[in-house]
Amino acid sequence: MSEAISRVKDDLRASPKKWLVTGVAGFIGSNLLEELIRLGQTVVGLDNLSTGHSHNLEEVRQEVGAEAWERFTFIKGDIRNLTDCRTACRGVEFVLHQAALGSVPRSIDDPIRTHQSNIDGFLNMLLSARDEDVKRFVYASSSSTYGDHPSLPKQEDVTGRPLSPYAVTKCANELYAGVFAKNYGIECIGLRYFNVFGRRQDPNGAYAAVIPRWIGEMLAGTRPTINGDGETSRDFCYIDNTVQANLLAALTVDREAVNQIYNVAGGGRTTLNELFGIIRDMLGEHQPRVRDIVPLYGPFRPGDIQHSHADIAKAERLLGYGPGFDVPRGMAETLAWFCRRNDSAIVK
Ligand SMILES: NC(=O)c1ccc[n+]([C@@H]2O[C@H](COP(=O)([O-])OP(=O)(O)OC[C@H]3O[C@@H](n4cnc5c(N)ncnc54)[C@H](O)[C@@H]3O)[C@@H](O)[C@H]2O)c1
Repeated sequence: MSEAISRVKDDLRASPKKWLVTGVAGFIGSNLLEELIRLGQTVVGLDNLSTGHSHNLEEVRQEVGAEAWERFTFIKGDIRNLTDCRTACRGVEFVLHQAALGSVPRSIDDPIRTHQSNIDGFLNMLLSARDEDVKRFVYASSSSTYGDHPSLPKQEDVTGRPLSPYAVTKCANELYAGVFAKNYGIECIGLRYFNVFGRRQDPNGAYAAVIPRWIGEMLAGTRPTINGDGETSRDFCYIDNTVQANLLAALTVDREAVNQIYNVAGGGRTTLNELFGIIRDMLGEHQPRVRDIVPLYGPFRPGDIQHSHADIAKAERLLGYGPGFDVPRGMAETLAWFCRRNDSAIVK
């Protein structure tokens, strides 16, 4: 654990705060909730349960216990509705804004719905945070904002043109956050997540992310499909690193660190072929029949970038970010979680 995050956690335990996590029933939101509750914080969660699930909240409740769960209030509401956003922000000190429609292909299939949640909803949340005097607004941006710029590793101020409606929405979020900081003095920090993975990531549905989808398929005995030749690479980031970055961003007292955008990643690069091998080999230790599975290869997906690899020096320098989990260590945790739930309804 980085020194900075140990300090932040000690401070939070000593002086608990009130937080709003939007998208709380989703993958990242439910992990933020779990960590905050474990640290003795009071949390309001907002979610419309469109891509998130109440079973994620139920799992967190079981993990933290009934007494701690009393510090959590769930609002079933929609960020496209300004009143829901205002209600959720009331009395809150820190917002961790995760609610959005993820997935590049979904945004290509349905740009209007993506726009409504990711831009209109984002603006509603920013306005509400401003009007309710929230201390800091930390929000989920994305590596997709690098668009077609070829340089590697990705540095925060070197971006290209967006390649999908989803990427446009995340670029717009960053622009709005900057403008709100300038005009209204609200403190915003954007976190560009790079392919996050871990417990409670949804393996089901047409828009599932690659890691949970492949795990679900291998556990079901079917052959996963690699889009393209498998040499596409990504900077996969274990969920605990992402949670750490959110806490550091919310609590930093360094003025230079505020109103900034940061890459949040593992800082390494894994091709899809390598990823397939890692999952199959590790899962094979739990489920021997998985060892013989070979992948299918399909066409490249439109809107996808070929390579993605983050320079995390800025987050290290200004936030004290230190990703404690590399891909193999994070994958071991992730697979253990999926295997424990293999017989439950989560992996079908
Ligand atoms: N998972 C990744 O690899 C990754 C990478 C880059 C950025 N992000 C961003 O991180 C955030 C969280 O992503 P995730 O992977 O946890 O996805 P997720 O789909 O698991 O979680 C998103 C949550 O937001 C909720 N939501 C969606 N639209 C809403 C609306 N209009 N009103 C209220 N709630 C709404 C969903 O029900 C869901 O619970 C998103 O902003 C996403 O764009 C994720």
